[in-house]
Amino acid sequence: MSTKKPLNVAVVGCGFMGRTHSNAFGKVGNFFNLEHRPVMKAVCARSDASVKAFAEQWGYESVETDWRRLVARKDIDLIDIATPNDTHAEIAIAAAQAGKMVMCEKPLGRNAGESVRMVAAVETAKVPNMVWYNYRRVPAVTLAKQILDEGKLGKIFHYRAKFLQDWTISKDLPQGGTGLWRLDVNVAGSGVTGDLLAHCIDTALWLNGGIDKVTAMTETFVKERMHNLTGKVEKVGIDDASAFLARFANGSLATFEATRYARGHKALYTLEINGEHASIFWDLHDLHRLQYFDHKDEGRVRGWRSLHITDGDHPYMKHWWVPGLQIGYEHTFIHQVADFLQAIEKGVPAAPTFRDALATDYVTDAVLQSARSGQWQTVQRAS
Ligand SMILES: NC(=O)c1ccc[n+]([C@@H]2O[C@H](COP(=O)([O-])OP(=O)(O)OC[C@H]3O[C@@H](n4cnc5c(N)ncnc54)[C@H](O)[C@@H]3O)[C@@H](O)[C@H]2O)c1
Repeated sequence: MSTKKPLNVAVVGCGFMGRTHSNAFGKVGNFFNLEHRPVMKAVCARSDASVKAFAEQWGYESVETDWRRLVARKDIDLIDIATPNDTHAEIAIAAAQAGKMVMCEKPLGRNAGESVRMVAAVETAKVPNMVWYNYRRVPAVTLAKQILDEGKLGKIFHYRAKFLQDWTISKDLPQGGTGLWRLDVNVAGSGVTGDLLAHCIDTALWLNGGIDKVTAMTETFVKERMHNLTGKVEKVGIDDASAFLARFANGSLATFEATRYARGHKALYTLEINGEHASIFWDLHDLHRLQYFDHKDEGRVRGWRSLHITDGDHPYMKHWWVPGLQIGYEHTFIHQVADFLQAIEKGVPAAPTFRDALATDYVTDAVLQSARSGQWQTVQRAS
């Protein structure tokens, strides 16, 4: 018999993120000692057959095919949104108004205007809220945050981030519908700016503070694609590639780049920070390592160190196996649920909150605006 407090969870969406979130809610109690025990109460998707199969596979107690029914249910404490971007605002606002805790996938809204309404809804309802910017919870990235906060890098000069993919190069790839909604601007909001750069920006704001201004360029390499829902060839409204320069409030200069046209790269997220005393570099393809260069080391042995982030004193790692054994991508989502539940227990906000995620949307909006105008754009602040 469990003495833990049950927390009834409902996940909306049975795709890629529906799976990572379900895995996280299911496993978190095995590895983290928490007051609450997530109960996988319900899952929702539009197709009855697929949602039933998903519930069976992942152990949900019930299914819904309309998220509105989920929001109306008295036996749900937390609504978790793992659906395409055009649904986030409507579901999150309704869930908050019904007094539910809300977790939402990134980007928060399709643009900052939508996100502002979502922030207002959760703050008015005073419900716990969080956005799944999961890369903050890669232990090596969390360690980078600790190292930066301790001042080990000194004054920061440069921030450099890239997120490279290659899956939309073919001009025969259609846009829209299941699986390809990311190419439909009405659903996604934007292309790689809101999809990939949003991750890079969230991590950057967390590690290096606010961005004052940006200047950007974007390109849509394939201008027209067949739309899966209309069967017609239609204009492509998303950005296929996006690059921008930024000035941070701390005086550092930054470059950011994301594309789905970097042949050979599947999901290469890298970040590098150069400070007065030291530098750090991280690479998603080698996610359990943090590269660290410290100029204070004795000159003869000075060089880039490759830290293997698997020891008990590394962030999150005491909850896993023994030193030297690695964890992976799915664990970042488990860490995020653990941190959310611990924040509820302490009665504190769980970062990144909706308001924290709005800060990223202000940057992506400024990037897209700058790409249109060709001018530097000042970034609005979220708080
Ligand atoms: N944190 C990350 O690293 C990360 C990675 C991938 C995707 N995402 C985000 O997660 C969200 C979902 O992306 P995905 O890759 O899982 O997409 P997906 O296409 O794999 O899955 C989307 C799911 O939502 C369901 N759905 C769509 N509309 C619905 C509705 N009205 N009601 C109920 N269910 C509905 C679909 O049937 C499908 O099951 C997006 O916002 C995306 O940006 C985040």
